[in-house]
Amino acid sequence: MGTHAPTSGQAEGSPFPPGFVWGVAASAFQIDGALDEDGRGESIWDRFCSAPGNIRAGDSAAVACDFYHRYPGDIALMRELGVDAFRFSVSWPRVLPQGRGRVNVRGLDFYDRLVDSLLEAGIAPYPTLFHWELPQPLEDAGGWPARETAEAFAEFTEAVAGRLGDRVKSWITHNEPWCAAWLGYGYGYHAPGRASTADALAAAHHLLLSHGLALQVLRRDSPGSEVGITLDLYPMHPASESAADRDAAKLADGRRNRWFLDPVLRGEYPADVLERYADRMPAIAEDDLRTISLPLDFLGVNHYTRTVIRCGPDGEPEELRVASAEYTDMGWEVYPAGIREVLERVHRDYAPPSIYVTESGATFTDVRRHDGRIVDVERQRYLAAYIHEVGEAIRGGVPVRGYFVWSLLDNFEWALGYQRRFGLVYVDYTSLERTPKESFYSYRGLIDRARSQSRGAHIQSRSSEKANAST
Ligand code: FCB
Repeated sequence: MGTHAPTSGQAEGSPFPPGFVWGVAASAFQIDGALDEDGRGESIWDRFCSAPGNIRAGDSAAVACDFYHRYPGDIALMRELGVDAFRFSVSWPRVLPQGRGRVNVRGLDFYDRLVDSLLEAGIAPYPTLFHWELPQPLEDAGGWPARETAEAFAEFTEAVAGRLGDRVKSWITHNEPWCAAWLGYGYGYHAPGRASTADALAAAHHLLLSHGLALQVLRRDSPGSEVGITLDLYPMHPASESAADRDAAKLADGRRNRWFLDPVLRGEYPADVLERYADRMPAIAEDDLRTISLPLDFLGVNHYTRTVIRCGPDGEPEELRVASAEYTDMGWEVYPAGIREVLERVHRDYAPPSIYVTESGATFTDVRRHDGRIVDVERQRYLAAYIHEVGEAIRGGVPVRGYFVWSLLDNFEWALGYQRRFGLVYVDYTSLERTPKESFYSYRGLIDRARSQSRGAHIQSRSSEKANAST
């Protein structure tokens, strides 16, 4: 037998290799609170939340989970969970209250303490530089539709990397540029609440450009670290085999997925979609696409659901609800095969050097029982099924290096406020008490099993290699 033949341990055991990164994810505005502390400036989300009608039930993020003060206890929870890594985001207005210019040292101090505490706990920090908190002064100067915002983002990256670049080994530039551009500038559901296709297209271009600029800063100021960008990717399935439905699904895929994948990983916008947007596109400088497509170390994939598309009466793609399917409280279909499909597709069509699943999770109505337990059976099922499919993708050769559950804690779900709970840990928003849900323990069990199986398989394959070498 050749030394590369898989051992039975590998074939039947865990598909997750030794060193696979198990993590949890969160973002600053959703958990921090302390919005007026230690010199933090105003962000577009502060402004958006203060306008009546923008946030469900008028919820405020002023306290959220109070992570800013309670992070030591939350790191203890991560230890108890047994994760390898924590994906969080750096709040731009904490570091640069005006968006550029004067650095707020106390803001950086917080991230310094956070990173050190994580490292002491044996948990690798995976900071995201932009998880939607644009400083309000930059919005006042034009926001993401203005090219200067991309340059300001490079300055922000410089400030953060200058302080944390020696200890952080994995950086994510942006989280879901589709959401920042389209929900924020195209439809107005999110901050800053603008609704213009031209603004959304310009915002998307400058978000991508700023990714390339930031990547160069990180290569210089955080040498030896890995850098990637996180995209939210969703399979678009035609509702029928008709040419009209298939074309509609292809267009939806182009707008949502290829519009970001193609520039980052191929250095071009998809021609079929570009044609439709041609009259509303921003100016693109000669080098922009080269900057956007500079080699990265990994692609971050956020994935929650699939979308079923039919051609609507006006010829536009229209989303359909599948009558027989299970949906989360977000109205997102539970469709585990979708995560494998997305991972395989990215690997086949774009082949980034590696992939992390940087968000995956679900919201259901969690009830704390009289005995204090939160028995979130649906979330446990969801995670087990999605993680199984990630494992299948790995077996099929997709280089997935880690998986992050969204989220550690219940938190402020943007325009939906506290009405949606995604946490492995239940948060009582009155007392701020944290209670691990059953899914916390089942995720821990799953990580434990995957680790011990892959360790077993690894030892087995090493000893069979030795046996082979000595014969
Ligand atoms: C993603 C966001 C994250 C959270 C989850 C539910 O789109 O990145 O902040 O809101 O959805």
